[in-house]
Amino acid sequence: MRTQTRLDAAIVESLLAAAVAAPSIHNTQPWRFRLDPDSQVLEVHSAPERTLPLTDPMHRAQYLSVGAAVFNLRLAAVHQGRRPEVRLLPDPHEPGLLATVRLTGSLDADDQSSDPGLYEAIARRHTSRMPFTGRPVPEPIVAEMASAAHAAGARLHVPGITGTRRLLRLTAAAEARNRAHLDRTAETRTWITAPGADTPYGIPVTALGPPDAAARMPMRDFTCALPALRRPALWFERHVQVALLSTSHDRREDWLRAGQALQYVLLTATAHGLRTSLLHQAMEWPDLRAATDLPGHKRCHPHMLIRFGYGPDGGRTPRTPGQCPVRAAASPATDTETS
Ligand SMILES: Cc1cc2nc3c(=O)[nH]c(=O)nc-3n(C[C@H](O)[C@H](O)[C@H](O)COP(=O)(O)O)c2cc1C
Repeated sequence: MRTQTRLDAAIVESLLAAAVAAPSIHNTQPWRFRLDPDSQVLEVHSAPERTLPLTDPMHRAQYLSVGAAVFNLRLAAVHQGRRPEVRLLPDPHEPGLLATVRLTGSLDADDQSSDPGLYEAIARRHTSRMPFTGRPVPEPIVAEMASAAHAAGARLHVPGITGTRRLLRLTAAAEARNRAHLDRTAETRTWITAPGADTPYGIPVTALGPPDAAARMPMRDFTCALPALRRPALWFERHVQVALLSTSHDRREDWLRAGQALQYVLLTATAHGLRTSLLHQAMEWPDLRAATDLPGHKRCHPHMLIRFGYGPDGGRTPRTPGQCPVRAAASPATDTETS
């Protein structure tokens, strides 16, 4: 029988520091943590006040973000020499409880061989919306990224030139729709923050990228047509390297799994010195999301288009330090608790 570990404050702090470093849509950080003092289980809840009702009405992107945070929690537990036992959606009566993590004891020799480079990559990973050099990523690294997705229960497909063009065209179509949708642009704009703004959420303008001078790369335009926020255009890489992350089912637990797979892939890339950015726009329109699925593949539910390559680092985004109130006996989540 596995022993249960008491989570002292230092362990909880290190787990949460790793969790909140995860990527999240518009840097909404849509998670909250709580510790059940009896079971010593760390609970990961959704944060209903940090959702995007127009961009993400089904909360799919929120689940992806929380899944990425859960993956970081697992790595941090292993880094502490503890074995994490993760349950997704453990309680049907509490839909806002997205995952629980229980540390069940010490790792054995095999577990300890799990890649320490991934944990270190957590702090180094940042979204880079800058042009990349176009230098091809060696095949063994791409294969490792695909294995990472597979190990987390997802699939990573790296298309050839024609397939890449098709995915970028669909992303560009989604981006055009987003820009034309005034309420969506207004929603996005509320998550863009001025330099020096004292807010732990959202994306500072310094972390936004330039538009592509060749208008080929459909990066998300977070400036929402505000000329004051727009940077001068730069030339993006001609040969774009992208990968499509998908799962074979499309339930809520698959979205959480896809989020874990996303983070596994991003950290694998980071550990190899790659930069990454995310092109999620097509996933936000049901018809365009359906059109991104892989021709000839049954049961392919796409979740993210990942751009990867060599290039400059991205600008920093802020985080709210993870806090972990102790769960009062049988109390439901309240909106007054912070992340
Ligand atoms: C589900 C999801 C969707 C995202 N979509 C986009 C996107 O379309 N364009 C983009 O530039 N960044 C996108 N991001 C990246 C976030 O903006 C980024 O993770 C966040 O601002 C935190 O910054 P960091 O990744 O540098 O830590 C997405 C992230 C997630 C998890």
